[in-house]
Amino acid sequence: MGEKVIEEDKEEAMKSSKTSLVFAINGQRFELELSSVDPSTTLVDFLRNKTPFKSVKLGCGEGGCGACVVLLSKYDPLLEKVDDFTISSCLTLLCSIDGCSITTSDGLGNSRVGFHAVHERIAGFHATQCGFCTPGMSVSMFSALLNADKSHPPRSGFSNLTAAEAEKAVSGNLCRCTGYRPLVDACKSFAADVDIEDLGYNSFCKKGENRDVVLGRLPCYDHTTSQVCTFPEFLKNEIKNGMSLDSRKYRWSSPVSVSDLQELLEAENGVSVKLVAGNTSTGYYKEEKERKYERFVDIRRIPELTMVRSDEKGVELGACVTISKAIEVLREEKNVSMLAKIATHMEKIANRFVRNTGTIGGNVMMAQRKQFPSDLTTILVAARATVKIMTNSSGQEQFTLEEFLQQSPLDAKSLLLSLEIPSWRPPKKNGSSSDTILLFETYRAAPRPRGNALAFLNAAFSAEVSSSEALDGIVVNDSQLVFGAYGTKHAHRAKKVEDFLTGKVISDEVLMEAIGLLKDEIVPDKGTSNPEYRSSLAVTFLFEFFGSLTQTNAKTTNGWLNGGCKEIGFDQNVESLKPEEAMLSSAQQIVENQEHSPVGKGITKAGACLQASGEAVYVDDIPAPENCVYGAFIYSTMPLARIKGIRFRQNRVPEGVLGIITYRDIPKDGKNIGTNGFFTSDLLFAEEITHCAGQIIAFLVADSQKHADIAANLVMIDYDTKDLEPPILSLEEAVKKFSLFEVPPPLRGFPVGDITKGMDEAEHKILGSKISFGSQYFFYMETQTALAVPDEDNCMVVYSSTQTPEFVHQTIAGCLGVPEHNVRVITRRVGGGFGGKAVKSMPVAAACALAASKMQRPVRTYVNRKTDMITTGGRHPMKVTYSVGFKSNGKITALDVEVLLDAGLTEDISPLMPKGIQGALMKYDWGALSFNVKVCKTNTVSRTALRAPGDVQGSYIGEAIIEKVASYLSVDVDEIRKVNLHTYESLRLFYSGKAGEFPEYTLPLLWDKIDEFSGFNQRRKVVEEFNALNKWRKRGISRVPAVYAVNMRSTPGRVSVLGDGSIVVEVQGIEIGQGLWTKVKQMAAYSLGLIQCGTTSDELLKKIRVIQSDTLSMVQGSMTAGSTTSEASSEAVRICCDDLVERLLPIKTALVEQTGGPVTWDNLISQAYRQSINMSVSSKYMPDSTGQYLNYGIAASEVEINVLTGETTILRTDIIYDCGKSLNPAVDLGQIEGAFVQGLGFFMLEEFLMNSDGLVVTDSTWTYKIPTVDTIPRQFNVEILNSGQHKNRVLSSKASGEPPLLLAASVHCAVRAAVKEARKQILTWNSNQQGTDLYFELPVPATMPVVKEFCGLDVVEKYLEWKIKQRKNV
Ligand SMILES: Cc1cc2nc3c(=O)[nH]c(=O)nc-3n(C[C@H](O)[C@H](O)[C@H](O)COP(=O)(O)OP(=O)(O)OC[C@H]3O[C@@H](n4cnc5c(N)ncnc54)[C@H](O)[C@@H]3O)c2cc1C
Ligand code: FES
Ligand code: FES
Repeated sequence: MGEKVIEEDKEEAMKSSKTSLVFAINGQRFELELSSVDPSTTLVDFLRNKTPFKSVKLGCGEGGCGACVVLLSKYDPLLEKVDDFTISSCLTLLCSIDGCSITTSDGLGNSRVGFHAVHERIAGFHATQCGFCTPGMSVSMFSALLNADKSHPPRSGFSNLTAAEAEKAVSGNLCRCTGYRPLVDACKSFAADVDIEDLGYNSFCKKGENRDVVLGRLPCYDHTTSQVCTFPEFLKNEIKNGMSLDSRKYRWSSPVSVSDLQELLEAENGVSVKLVAGNTSTGYYKEEKERKYERFVDIRRIPELTMVRSDEKGVELGACVTISKAIEVLREEKNVSMLAKIATHMEKIANRFVRNTGTIGGNVMMAQRKQFPSDLTTILVAARATVKIMTNSSGQEQFTLEEFLQQSPLDAKSLLLSLEIPSWRPPKKNGSSSDTILLFETYRAAPRPRGNALAFLNAAFSAEVSSSEALDGIVVNDSQLVFGAYGTKHAHRAKKVEDFLTGKVISDEVLMEAIGLLKDEIVPDKGTSNPEYRSSLAVTFLFEFFGSLTQTNAKTTNGWLNGGCKEIGFDQNVESLKPEEAMLSSAQQIVENQEHSPVGKGITKAGACLQASGEAVYVDDIPAPENCVYGAFIYSTMPLARIKGIRFRQNRVPEGVLGIITYRDIPKDGKNIGTNGFFTSDLLFAEEITHCAGQIIAFLVADSQKHADIAANLVMIDYDTKDLEPPILSLEEAVKKFSLFEVPPPLRGFPVGDITKGMDEAEHKILGSKISFGSQYFFYMETQTALAVPDEDNCMVVYSSTQTPEFVHQTIAGCLGVPEHNVRVITRRVGGGFGGKAVKSMPVAAACALAASKMQRPVRTYVNRKTDMITTGGRHPMKVTYSVGFKSNGKITALDVEVLLDAGLTEDISPLMPKGIQGALMKYDWGALSFNVKVCKTNTVSRTALRAPGDVQGSYIGEAIIEKVASYLSVDVDEIRKVNLHTYESLRLFYSGKAGEFPEYTLPLLWDKIDEFSGFNQRRKVVEEFNALNKWRKRGISRVPAVYAVNMRSTPGRVSVLGDGSIVVEVQGIEIGQGLWTKVKQMAAYSLGLIQCGTTSDELLKKIRVIQSDTLSMVQGSMTAGSTTSEASSEAVRICCDDLVERLLPIKTALVEQTGGPVTWDNLISQAYRQSINMSVSSKYMPDSTGQYLNYGIAASEVEINVLTGETTILRTDIIYDCGKSLNPAVDLGQIEGAFVQGLGFFMLEEFLMNSDGLVVTDSTWTYKIPTVDTIPRQFNVEILNSGQHKNRVLSSKASGEPPLLLAASVHCAVRAAVKEARKQILTWNSNQQGTDLYFELPVPATMPVVKEFCGLDVVEKYLEWKIKQRKNV
């Protein structure tokens, strides 16, 4: 007995003595003294700055991209159970992982201990390009497998995960390169129910092979042996020993009961306290990350807040129950369909890794205190939920959630304890018949169907209805109609509509009246985007909910369920509004060329496993040198203003700040230049005057990146606009004021044929038609970054994430005023460029170098997403006016195009744009063409190249014109396309030197082939039938060709063979994800293999390493751009290898003569070394005189639009792309799919908007939506045409990086066709319809609001009016 007491005392003592955080990362123990930890430190900060585990990347810091995803494992000592789930480490606070274990992608496996099957399958399915998103993807996949296989062992070699679940495993992770299809296939390859033959092109399957052979080749997944230990034993033991944190004396506290918490809060009077649950709200309220709280109180260890109760009264959930847990609990209530519907809706909140830590209480508090556009509060108000609150003044209180939301914001020290969803049985009312039922439904319209996007509008309706024979219809006894997220304070009940409907029989007339009332009630607050669209969605949802009850023969079923919905037994006249949730599928037709093997083989990307495991080193992964400091840009928010001063808010220098670098810090021999090498150089920093919002004014340097970013946000700039002209913020103003850049004559647009004659020949003309394009942001996953390290003798080594190392080099030398040999720029790999790391990487590296030079210490920066979005410019907006003349058969005879191009503040690459636009526009035979571009200078951030710059707009302009002509003539648009396709003769006329030989013009072949490949013509008929049968869903199908001219540029290369026979290759082309290193390796292996000394080319491949680019080691590197760097670099390497082979051949001959036997590669090289043969060769590839050729591709896309919400589903896309003889079809396939999906973003989703001062306002993952897994084509088929010899190409290959992006226009054209069907339908309802013509221009991007607007914001009202009129006429 005595002993036991002593033991207990000891235990108590141990408990209270714990003063440090203990946790594990990848099995390694970490212990941190709590007193030494800043409680605002995030897990990603810690992982990247204080541990070697750099596989965790930072992409947004907002919970919106998934680059930082890690696995968090928690151990329950009572149940002896480990819970594993993904979290976003950018939102998770380090202190909150006390007692937990973290697994990162490099913890799953790596090059030292062996890669995990997840890594190897990602590599084998060619599912990584730049690799920056890949570690996060790997962890998301691993977590899905781990959890699927916990409950029961899966079939050998497989996981219990179903293919459908596999598809969702990465649905919250963003990837800008791959287009997602291969990632999903890699994940599906683990699923027990998948047919391996249905998966996309990969390195495991070979055509016609036996299934078992293929399965045997798949990297082994055995859930027992290959399982990673996610929770180490030592940590379990420490937890069992009862070590809980006594944190009262520290800034971080973790109370374990409500009374503890109360005590703590009472003791902390006057102290700023932050209650922390999942901390995910800081992804939205980013300023919260920067606020200095005196105390952080983690409330998730309080049992009352994590309790779950479910009984006949309802379901009660503690406030700290995570959204994921709540979904699980609600799904368990199988008999209550209302709860299942709530759960289904909740699955669309955020993404899985946010739901895993984000709590329901946190969500409600964000809505209550800060008017967050919550989904949860909307659906829970409709479910009549109640909340329990604990305040200092009143103790515990209970309110309905609706009341609670309307109260003044809960004070910071009060607590939301729980939420209860009551069991819901309608009170029997007079007149209620026994067949009364409850209806419950939730709605959500958002740019991404599976979530990870805030809704334009959400809604949830509950209604008690009964059928009344006396009144001959369905009567509404009671209803609760809740709308939210539309730009109002809180979830809003449409009470006037509820009151109006009570006691009414639902009819079209009643619904019309209700809609009238609703439109007055659901009015977004001023300043909310797309207000009319949001209001129209409210009408849609109401219509969908009640529309099916308007039939007079409607009857409710007897099978009443608690919360049941749509248990109505009558013919529905409103179709199911969602297109079938078809699984993703794909097919590829690819020929591997054997002639120059391994060139032509679809070999796995070089370093793919390194990227998947996260070992691949990007600039920001390079360990910080001693003494390193960090920079953040300060930019202007004014378009044109004098800079009077730079100061900090409240004139207080924030923590960690070391200095602010401005143009005044440029050394006396240096120049204020931030870019160099294109048309003109550009300023690094604004001087006396800032000329655009987003222009860099200064570079703030601090002791950490976090401090630098916080301090930069606290900077105030004093501006003065006195005596300054107003800024030029529109193209029209620029033209009016002659604010234009000069375009050198060879780059200007040029005429083809005689436009006057062409117009004269025309039988019809469309004059002065307009098209306009907005901008697009790169959204590379790795933002701009550089590290500058001062070296001896005034030299500077700069690690830069750039596509243009040579120009970065020149810029830095010019800025510092030193000879170029004092600067060295090193780039190993880039985490996505897309053109954004060409010109725009230069000021980033230059600023670091300038600061490093001034401070004589290393300086680095990793630009945060917001600053990156605001300062880098993006694609060129433009306005186009055209006139076109054509014959009655659709043959166009003349086209006159005038383009106003918004270049922004400086020239950048803008003078090149006319060439790009015209190059792609000329894909059709326009008869005669007159083309003129004005490159306008405006007070906005300078625009730059973004994948297929100019070409994408040019190609689309062509389609818009063709569509207009087709509409004018009321002829099928496909016919007009065909009539105007080039003959070889007209191609030569338009493209003069680039057209190549006749057989190279493969576009007519592709045109025919796509029909065969996709069943295009047959499917057009099916689309017609579908449209005739469906009112609210319309389909469109479209095939679109693309022609893309590329230029080859001179490119250097070097190949060196080392003494042991291993080979080092240097090229100045940068690996930005496009597979350059892989193609270069293949070329080196092929070319050196020609020596034929018993070593296979595959063996040679393994001996080759491509190394980082270094501007002092290899000069004249130019840039990686324009889609041709891979082939040019490969050719440079081939020239080197040919030379080496020539040097080696005599040695080989001599050796054969001496030994009489075969000579191995290693022997040959040893002998060459003994003879002191120079085994290093440099060369420079020089293109032939034209250096230009044309690329061809075609795509057919079929879409389905929801006429009521504007949502588009891409049902199917087929692409045929002529890759010549592909150097690597796996790499080219990835480029084709990835480019197409990026183009999809441009045409359908991405709005890069500015305010009236020209400052970018869509500056985060919250407001800028790139495609996700759920927005790509459900069926995505690609054929790579293996076209014949191209004598001027590198081994007959062609480019693939940019041209396929143009093909995404097929989706936009298909959407237009579908919208046209919707408009035709409206015309049948009312032939006198104003403004509903079939001759319309659908804007780019065709976002949901745009599609809805063009289908008719009042389409429901129009329909009901028509129906009512019809009935009256009868
Ligand atoms: C990328 C992303 C996308 C999202 N998308 C959606 C969406 O589409 N729809 C939607 O509805 N939501 C969305 N959310 C919001 C998400 O649901 C919330 O961030 C999450 O639920 C907040 O929970 P938390 O535990 O992380 O709260 P925390 O961040 O820990 O807390 C939020 C706030 O509430 C306070 N607080 C927390 N718990 C309590 C309590 N019990 N009592 C008193 N105060 C408390 C905290 O002090 C803090 O001020 C998204 C979030 C992210 C990051
Ligand atoms: S960095 Fe964490 S989700 Fe983007
Ligand atoms: S590979 Fe996914 S972002 Fe580059």
